[in-house]
Amino acid sequence: MKFFAINGSPRKVFNTAQLLDKSLEGIKSVLPEAEVERIDLYDIPFNGCKSCFACKKVNGRHYGRCVYNDDFKPILNKITQSDGLILGSPVYFGDLTGNMRCFLERFMFPFLAYSTTETVDHKRMPLAFIYTMNVSDEASFDLGYHDLFDKYESVLERLFTKPEHLYVHETYQFSDYDRYVSDIFDEKERRIIHETRFPIDLESAFKIGQNIAKRAKKD
Ligand SMILES: Cc1cc2nc3c(=O)[nH]c(=O)nc-3n(C[C@H](O)[C@H](O)[C@H](O)COP(=O)(O)O)c2cc1C
Repeated sequence: MKFFAINGSPRKVFNTAQLLDKSLEGIKSVLPEAEVERIDLYDIPFNGCKSCFACKKVNGRHYGRCVYNDDFKPILNKITQSDGLILGSPVYFGDLTGNMRCFLERFMFPFLAYSTTETVDHKRMPLAFIYTMNVSDEASFDLGYHDLFDKYESVLERLFTKPEHLYVHETYQFSDYDRYVSDIFDEKERRIIHETRFPIDLESAFKIGQNIAKRAKKD
């Protein structure tokens, strides 16, 4: 079995990446033989959907498939055949990162039939979504982030399966706060959160991985 973690952060060792790696460890704890791989979206030169509509052409050769022939195409093909996926994105300006959006356009749109009768036959693997952000739990509600996450997840549920999710708040943003102008943050408070709450978030990510593996095993 093959599982992917999709890293929507440009950073490869920070919050999102660490959580995703933990979730892959969770998968391996249930399915030691499974192949797991993290895909760093910012390593791949690719764009979102280019609106060619080849995936929706009547009797089209590429109906229900993304025809966009770029470096991302073989990777997308592997992902759509996988047995489970864990997506991870920081919040940038109240939304997912640009590359995560590009990924979702390419991943989801071909499978969305513009029809009441036609459907697209494709794999409906178990999914999870991990979101990391600067704001607190309370502020993320007030700012409407949860409505936005629900919106993405409702499309994922319709096309694949209902995603489990993890919200990670008040992340530690730099390895050394002294090197950046960041006096709106209380570094000490953030460090304490990082030392006390982030390990719990990592455990939650591990469990998310275990759940994905168990769901994949059942199918
Ligand atoms: C360009 C940019 C925009 C951001 N916008 C937001 C935002 O709107 N809301 C928020 O809570 N955090 C925001 N953040 C903070 C990140 O979401 C947060 O630090 C996240 O944990 C970073 O993930 P990473 O450590 O995996 O890279 C922003 C960070 C950057 C670099």
